[in-house]
Amino acid sequence: MIADTPMAYIESLASARRQTETQWQARAGTMSGPDSITLVADDGTEGSRFCGLMRVVLRHPHAPGTPLQAVLSSVYVAPERRGLGLADNLIDAAKEAAVELGAEVLELGVHEENDRAKRFYQRHGFSLNGASRSYPQHKSKRELLMECKLPEAPKESR
Ligand SMILES: CC(C)(COP(=O)(O)OP(=O)(O)OC[C@H]1O[C@@H](n2cnc3c(N)ncnc32)[C@H](O)[C@@H]1OP(=O)(O)O)[C@@H](O)C(=O)NCCC(=O)NCCS
Repeated sequence: MIADTPMAYIESLASARRQTETQWQARAGTMSGPDSITLVADDGTEGSRFCGLMRVVLRHPHAPGTPLQAVLSSVYVAPERRGLGLADNLIDAAKEAAVELGAEVLELGVHEENDRAKRFYQRHGFSLNGASRSYPQHKSKRELLMECKLPEAPKESR
């Protein structure tokens, strides 16, 4: 993921390569819980290759009187699966996951030059909210914040 599109992630390739097996296992153990859901796509066969990922995490703390927010991160679809609808399925599932966690708004950060991702998010109802911050790996570039209002959760799932 990071080697494929370094500007898509906050972690550097060097830092990811320094992680030990134990550290990766500890990270995997926190992939989903009461405040987060990680969606992983493969091609559906036994032992098949991973081909897509998205992660939704509830934002804490939550300021009273503001909509409950979740953050979409770790967005990745393998190059050979891009443009074929897998990313559409994953982002629809990510929105459902955010609603399931109780969020009213889904937010994300995208590198200002990642035009493909920006276009993809816009097609899925995300818009720039006007905020931006310096990109951690690339201080002279900006990370633009986008958000999407989520539908209300069905009453029975609350
Ligand atoms: C971002 C990502 C998940 C989107 O999935 P995808 O299957 O590529 O998305 P789609 O092909 O459905 O949509 C991409 C859109 O960008 C357009 N596009 C393709 N290449 C483009 C380019 N070089 N510049 C601008 N737009 C481009 C496509 O035509 C499509 O436009 P449309 O929505 O108007 O049809 C995938 O490209 C990816 O994993 N990229 C690498 C990691 C990454 O950048 N993650 C995002 C971190 S914020």
